[in-house]
Amino acid sequence: MMGVNQPMRIDVLTLFPEVCQPFFASSILGRAGQAGLVDIVCTNIRDFASDKHRSVDDTPCGGGPGMVLAAPPVFAAVEHVGALDPRPPVRILLTPQGERFTHRLAVELAQQQRLLLIAGHYEGFDERIRLGLEPREISIGDYVLSGGEAAAMVVADAVVRLLPGALGHEGAAADDSFVENLLEYPQYTRPRDFRGMAVPDVLLSGDHARIERWRRQRQIERTRDRRPDLLEQDALSDQTPRLTRSNNG
Ligand code: 6GU
Repeated sequence: MMGVNQPMRIDVLTLFPEVCQPFFASSILGRAGQAGLVDIVCTNIRDFASDKHRSVDDTPCGGGPGMVLAAPPVFAAVEHVGALDPRPPVRILLTPQGERFTHRLAVELAQQQRLLLIAGHYEGFDERIRLGLEPREISIGDYVLSGGEAAAMVVADAVVRLLPGALGHEGAAADDSFVENLLEYPQYTRPRDFRGMAVPDVLLSGDHARIERWRRQRQIERTRDRRPDLLEQDALSDQTPRLTRSNNG
């Protein structure tokens, strides 16, 4: 309906919905669901197998180790859940061969109305899944997981926390690491002294400008020490003047 803000819908196709569901029902994601910001639906690919053994995988043509996720149950599942909502979903295949998942990609996906995440298992996907569904392919990093479920949870989490209202207090997401290609500053809470480690005086000074400068310095320092690659990325972008300014502040 026009003018009505529908919740974002995320469908997750998986062989292990019982693993994914409790994760999506917990914490920030669970609250976002209750608040009507997102509707996350897990569907078992096995429900779309056509034989009596409900098999979804088979041996690779041409031989070789392991099993391959077959195309027919995946296509049937995609077509079934696709029709459960009139909005066409952005189809995403979770695979170590995909584009690397970053904050930038999370921001892009958070602007979509509907996502369909396909989490495979086994040694690989039948290539016809790629050829026929033309999904966007996403990897969460350069290591191999035994299945795409953990990656689907990572992607959904990173996207949902960016939806307006998902975090109790606005601004929390804007402060996160990677939003500005800088790591976060050190945080403290009470007690003021713990086992000889004191909260830095500046944080108790009440001088907000000074606190902000101190935090920005720690961010830059920490990023230089741990992730200099982030500062190099930044130098290549239009953000350089801002960084230079805070550096001198
Ligand atoms: Cl998306 N899937 C699997 N199986 N392994 C991964 C991955 C995805 N991203 C990194 N490793």
